[in-house]
Amino acid sequence: ALAVVAPQDLAGLRVAISAGGTREPIDPVRFLGNRSSGRQGAALAAEAAARGAEVVLVAAHVEHAVRAAALHPSIRVQDVGTAAELSAAMKDAAATADVLIMAAAVADYRPAEAADHKLTKDEGVLTRIDLVENEDVVAALAAARAEGRAPSGQTIVAFAAETLHDAEQRRERARRKRERKGVDLLAVNLADAEHGFERAENAVEVIGADGTVVATSSGTKRQVASAIWDAVLSAR
Ligand code: CTP
Ligand code: CA
Repeated sequence: ALAVVAPQDLAGLRVAISAGGTREPIDPVRFLGNRSSGRQGAALAAEAAARGAEVVLVAAHVEHAVRAAALHPSIRVQDVGTAAELSAAMKDAAATADVLIMAAAVADYRPAEAADHKLTKDEGVLTRIDLVENEDVVAALAAARAEGRAPSGQTIVAFAAETLHDAEQRRERARRKRERKGVDLLAVNLADAEHGFERAENAVEVIGADGTVVATSSGTKRQVASAIWDAVLSAR
């Protein structure tokens, strides 16, 4: 038999990856959510572990079949539910992490208050839900690093799902988003019918610190994960 061994080029690195989609409670049975499956985050975790890294996978509602892809002795999975829980888990991991990747779809807003009982139609309150903005987790992680509250040389990667079809407009939005968040790399994935959310395949462009496209990859989420780790190593 032929043993295929991945290069151990991430050996010695501690990495934290968020995956999946947060759910913001409306009441005990209802929530605001999104379509993120966690597949790209799980693939990033599996690829990192195969290449020698120690991984914390912060998983927001990642179903069993997906997390099975990230079963590895070097991957610790920490389950979270809301954006606030995801934020706390990532900040915890960030204190000792060399690389942070925010692949999770974090809710931009949450209901201003979650009811403590199941809301009923006759209460008449479900026709309108007041929302408040959630913290931008990845921007907070980048700010903590800028203030020296992170291991030196920490690399931070954000994701962005964009549905703009014009490639140049998409890149321009991505450049501004990378700068606004203060991250090193921004992986832009094209969220359309064939790619992105709930799909096995993905297509990404990675924008680097100078605003140029430093990597392009399409294929399985594992192939895309491999290209993203290559880009992380080049950026360090
Ligand atoms: N993100 C985050 N905290 C939030 C929202 C997003 O950390 N409250 C992270 C995501 O995990 C992702 C990156 O920010 O890595 C980009 O998310 P995206 O939704 O594309 O950016 P937003 O700043 O929310 O902008 P918009 O949704 O308006 O495009
Ligand atoms: Ca958003």
